[in-house]
Amino acid sequence: MDNRPIGVFDSGLGGLTVLKEIMNLIPAESVVYFGDSGRAPYGTKSKETIIKYTFQDIRFLLNQDIKMMVVACNTVSAFSMELIKKQVDIPVIEVIEPGAAAGVRETVNKKLGVIGTTATIQSGAYEKAIARINPDLQVFSKACPLFVPLAEEGKLWWEKEVAVKIAEEYLGSLKNEGVDTLILGCTHYPLLKNTIAKVMGNGVKLVSSAQEVAKAVKNEIVRKNMERDPAIKPVYRYYTSDSVDKFEPLCSIILDRNVHSAEKVDIEKY
Ligand code: DGL
Repeated sequence: MDNRPIGVFDSGLGGLTVLKEIMNLIPAESVVYFGDSGRAPYGTKSKETIIKYTFQDIRFLLNQDIKMMVVACNTVSAFSMELIKKQVDIPVIEVIEPGAAAGVRETVNKKLGVIGTTATIQSGAYEKAIARINPDLQVFSKACPLFVPLAEEGKLWWEKEVAVKIAEEYLGSLKNEGVDTLILGCTHYPLLKNTIAKVMGNGVKLVSSAQEVAKAVKNEIVRKNMERDPAIKPVYRYYTSDSVDKFEPLCSIILDRNVHSAEKVDIEKY
């Protein structure tokens, strides 16, 4: 038994799409969430900057005495997992392998699309992860750098006409290739799911890693005998590097629960 919280982080709001699934699957666990909205997007930044931000986020979470860490960001998962695993001595779960596995499972015509941030797509992390599972699939990737700022801007923007126009611009080539499954390789993208689905059409299945990641977290907790005592009420703490007034309403929408005790963190201090 281990009553310490699980630490979850992302460049901003996107990781909340993963946190939601974790809360649904293992409601007895306490959680500390950090979203670096003040410095998002990460996916347009250099590798050095992404790694610097990642380790500041990690130092902040490790200060919260967590028992496990979830890297709820594809961009960080694509660049820093080896470094993180070398330097962190608690279990760490990332999002790319589970997302790739979900996509491979769903495709029927063996044509898989992957969308993500510029950094994630340039890293080739999804192609490698997919090839490890099934080398016979065709993979078509596309970076969609404007999706993260759109998602961070708030619900009003997620389904606006301008969002559809941007999605058409990015997704046209994947549609033309005839992919039957599209991996949302960025944890922000499920927020734009309706817009992406509208552009891709009914025949294309959208998959994200969120549910798979939640399962991986649960399995690891059970395997290591680290469950929280179910008799103690779980505690959820939320931190952002940007305005709490902007974070709380969006966090409430995404998690579908009232969030009113978020705190601002000066992440540069870590
Ligand atoms: N949610 C992050 C991801 O999954 C977005 C990264 C960014 O801030 O660009 O990649």
